Amino acid sequence: MDVIFSGIQPSGSLTLGNYLGALKNFIPFQEKAECYYCVVNQHAITVPQNPALLHERTRNLAALYIAAGMDPKKATIFVQSEVPEHAMLGWMMICSAYVGEMERMTQYKSKAQKEEKKEGFIPLGLLTYPPLMAADILLYQANLVPVGEDQRQHMEITRDLAERFNRKYGEVFTIPEMWAPQGGARVMSLQEPTGKMSKSDDNEWATIHM
Ligand code: AQP
Repeated sequence: MDVIFSGIQPSGSLTLGNYLGALKNFIPFQEKAECYYCVVNQHAITVPQNPALLHERTRNLAALYIAAGMDPKKATIFVQSEVPEHAMLGWMMICSAYVGEMERMTQYKSKAQKEEKKEGFIPLGLLTYPPLMAADILLYQANLVPVGEDQRQHMEITRDLAERFNRKYGEVFTIPEMWAPQGGARVMSLQEPTGKMSKSDDNEWATIHM
């Protein structure tokens, strides 16, 4: 049986991109696979968050999962920070990763630039985001990960980190594959059509919210 893992950050109100690229596709897998769907609140804190708002958004996102058709009897639905093994394996993945390969991640480059402009600094968590994402997936020995097209580079680094770990320490981890939908895998911003629609976009005219 396939083992599925995926998650969404409670970093804002979900967009049509999040729905078509990710959430909508989580649902059918429940009928035929072992599914783990997570609210990845530890990824959200890679940029500054208001604690009370983050708490509220975490609960709202879990509610939205259920409203979209996720069934807690068929899939395991949980909050990342409530399972400490994510951070534990995340640290091991950080120790297996190289600074150079992290600095090449396009999401890191764009978010680092945005945060530096906005806050005057670049949070280190932005750089170490991909090893934590690798840990999220590898922890469950997931073989399929439904995500949007923007996560392709992070999925490749997840596979690299798993293969690197297995080469050193034996066959520990399943090497996961990305699953992206044929349509809706990259919904573009309504204001900047060369960039993707994003829930944390400050320009409210750029997004269609769920
Ligand atoms: N524009 C998009 N089109 C299709 N799929 C998308 N996804 C995100 N944007 C689009 C997919 O939604 C899932 C959740 O992503 P995430 O919350 O973990 O982070 P993200 O990819 O960085 O999404 P956002 O909306 O851009 O969040 P912020 O603004 O906080 O960075 C993933 O499967 C993603 O591919």
